[in-house]
Amino acid sequence: MDVMIHTKVWKIDQIKSDWHVQLAQPAALLSAGKQIAFPTETVYGLGADARSEEAVRGIFSAKGRPSDNPLIVHIYDRSQVHELTNCTNELAERLMDQFWPGPLTLILPVRQGVLSNQVTAGLQTVGLRMPDHPIALELMRQAAVPIAAPSANTSGRPSPTLASHVLDDLQGKIEGIVDGGATGVGLESTVVEVSGQHIQILRPGGVTVEQLQACCPEASVTLETELETKEAPRSPGMKYTHYAPQGKLVIVKGESAAVSQYIVQQVTMHAAENKCGVLCFKENAHHYEQADLVLSLGSVNQLEQAASRLYEALRKFDEYGVTRIWSEASTTEGIGAAFMNRLLKAAGHNVINL
Ligand code: TXA
Ligand code: MG
Repeated sequence: MDVMIHTKVWKIDQIKSDWHVQLAQPAALLSAGKQIAFPTETVYGLGADARSEEAVRGIFSAKGRPSDNPLIVHIYDRSQVHELTNCTNELAERLMDQFWPGPLTLILPVRQGVLSNQVTAGLQTVGLRMPDHPIALELMRQAAVPIAAPSANTSGRPSPTLASHVLDDLQGKIEGIVDGGATGVGLESTVVEVSGQHIQILRPGGVTVEQLQACCPEASVTLETELETKEAPRSPGMKYTHYAPQGKLVIVKGESAAVSQYIVQQVTMHAAENKCGVLCFKENAHHYEQADLVLSLGSVNQLEQAASRLYEALRKFDEYGVTRIWSEASTTEGIGAAFMNRLLKAAGHNVINL
């Protein structure tokens, strides 16, 4: 039976001095075991009390998420690390000092009996993060419980960077949304597992490889992109297809002029039977006027901006019913690693190398 509920929206304007007070109702609902979406500095999360089996089950059913994919637990106070985990690693502590609040999730050994079993999907570890967003922190402080929160999208859709994206996917399925405007980074947090002197990146994100290495010069930092194709990935979420637009997306790599020329040729060839879309950088956008929808991610020299716009662009192609999409690629330096990781997933690793 599909139950429709009325999804409340709380629009929070942080310019107003009483914005904290407006969070009282969503915070009380979270404490009472309901599912509430809220903004973070990465993407919108769908939160619920991480200790309650029933509250957490509500997250999985609203998203249609496979039950073997564990959830990240969000905290607002460092003391919660020791309530929820048996963290003894010195490097892990240093990473928290440096990057929290911020877009870094640490996989830590979970304390038995303190969290719902579904949060960890039966693993001995839990992913913890302290988001760098005043609304998220204040909401959790008022709710006063650890909050399990995956991205607030339907499973398989791009993560939401605006409250309207959350409504598009989850209206009628969740109790409410705290609308705090656009998120910042626009891609999910970096997920890392630390053991001894080794930092393994399970998912690249807002905190870059370069930043991790600079914080821990004595550590080895590895980004295993091939994790995605292994049979038993360390991070269960890696095995699922994510963020796929409805149209067929192909990434075109190579020297800039050759890439533009190839895309123009393809658009011309497929224009009759398709609605053609191009995802590109501002510098090249003028080449693609024949396409039905051209979305520019901003300058190729400002990858932070491109990252913050990627998911919105993928949703736009769907909205316009685009059936074929060609995308330019970026470097994999800095935030480029996370950007290309998500773009590759969205394209199902469909790449043309010129
Ligand atoms: O930025 C973010 O991290 C956002 C916002 C809302 O905080 N959240 C988010 O959650 O992206 P989600 O559920 O969409 O992604 C969580 C990822 C999945 O790939 C999952 O498999 C992995 O983290 N993960 C969670 N717990 C894990 C664990 N114990 N071991 C390994 N991987 C884990
Ligand atoms: Mg997600």
